[in-house]
Amino acid sequence: MGATEAQTPYLAAYFLNPKVQAGHRLADAPEGAAHQTTDPATLDKGKELFAENCAACHSSKAPPLPASIDLNACNGSGYLDCWNEYWRWAQTPDFKSQMVEIVKAPDFLDGNYLSTDMRVPVTLLETNACSPLATNAIAGNVWDNFSSQSYKDLPSVGEIRVRDPFNGKEKKFKMPAGGRGYTRVPSLIALWSTAPYLVNNSVGPFTGDPSVAGRMKAFDASIEQMLWPERRMRDSEFGKGGVFLIDRTTVSSYLIVPGGFLPDGLRALIDPLSRWLPSIFGEGELRIGPIPKGTPVNLLSNTELYKDDVTLAENLPRYAELISLLKTALKDLKSLPANAGDEEAKKAFANLAMPLLDLSKCPDFEVNRGHYFGTGKVAGTTALTDDDKKALIEFLKTF
Ligand code: HEC
Repeated sequence: MGATEAQTPYLAAYFLNPKVQAGHRLADAPEGAAHQTTDPATLDKGKELFAENCAACHSSKAPPLPASIDLNACNGSGYLDCWNEYWRWAQTPDFKSQMVEIVKAPDFLDGNYLSTDMRVPVTLLETNACSPLATNAIAGNVWDNFSSQSYKDLPSVGEIRVRDPFNGKEKKFKMPAGGRGYTRVPSLIALWSTAPYLVNNSVGPFTGDPSVAGRMKAFDASIEQMLWPERRMRDSEFGKGGVFLIDRTTVSSYLIVPGGFLPDGLRALIDPLSRWLPSIFGEGELRIGPIPKGTPVNLLSNTELYKDDVTLAENLPRYAELISLLKTALKDLKSLPANAGDEEAKKAFANLAMPLLDLSKCPDFEVNRGHYFGTGKVAGTTALTDDDKKALIEFLKTF
């Protein structure tokens, strides 16, 4: 028996332990009760608002699906149509009144995973697209065998709007088909303890304090930012124009890629290149810089050195483009005096910045955008009042 197999019963026993299964309620935590209201009217209001605005995605207890949604047609290429139909139904008085009953039932939280586990198109979420754009599980990639055929058959969610990090302007980006473009709904169990929020932990502060009080401090600030997006952090350069936070380098930096991480086609070129261009291809590594302070980090971290879904021959023009890009960069960066300031580095880097944006796998830079449910920014929904939001938050604390 393998080690993993031998340990499996312990893992099963852990998950079957009633203490683990019950979740960790704030009310049961030391001093937890001090952070919660017991006012029944407030909690009742919170339940209604949760039922009408959140439960379509964040509850595993739900009304029966209407006959117009044929689950047999929903897998793979038919998924988006089914999702849209489901989302339309979730806005109807029929769905909402049934859901209110379910949420108000005294056993609503018992055995509720607080998620539907559905894939939500990022066009509806408007969240940062880089996680839904991840390529690991698509056909022909490293986790190909761990993802389903129905995932690989998913249609494109359509176009999203992204901000250009160099001028703050909005542009469109077409999301690919083949699995990317969706985010599954996370569970909200013990939400009080898990701030900051969203898949990239970008909404709310990280306090680094695991005490109940420390977690509640992070919860309060994070859930406020979720429901009042105008309280979220803004970009240091274009925040006044409404651009959300863009992670930018805080000091002048270098990008170093060890030869072993370069795709085969490029690695073969390192040797001759390090002979011709020793200052960017040092000891078998690719070294680009100085990259000026204020450069968007994702510009560098999401460079698509090779296309995932095409052959080596088809990738060759891309390598040629990359090489010419590097040559230009070298010329510009080499012309910098040793004690160059940020402004000079910025000018020298400018020729590299635009092409890098074209080569980016995910040209979406605002990290803490989206998930506007309850704010009225989602088509077909209405904004909650400040008092409504506060009542909803009180109910969320009981999860
Ligand atoms: C259309 C489906 C949908 C609706 C409606 C919805 N959510 Fe979400 N929610 C999601 C998805 C998907 C995510 C994950 C997004 C991400 O991380 O990028 C999420 C994430 C969250 C998170 C962060 C969880 C974490 O651990 O990071 C919170 C909190 C949350 N939702 C609360 C709410 C509340 C409160 C409402 C109602 C006002 C609501 N949601 C309505 C789909 C939905």
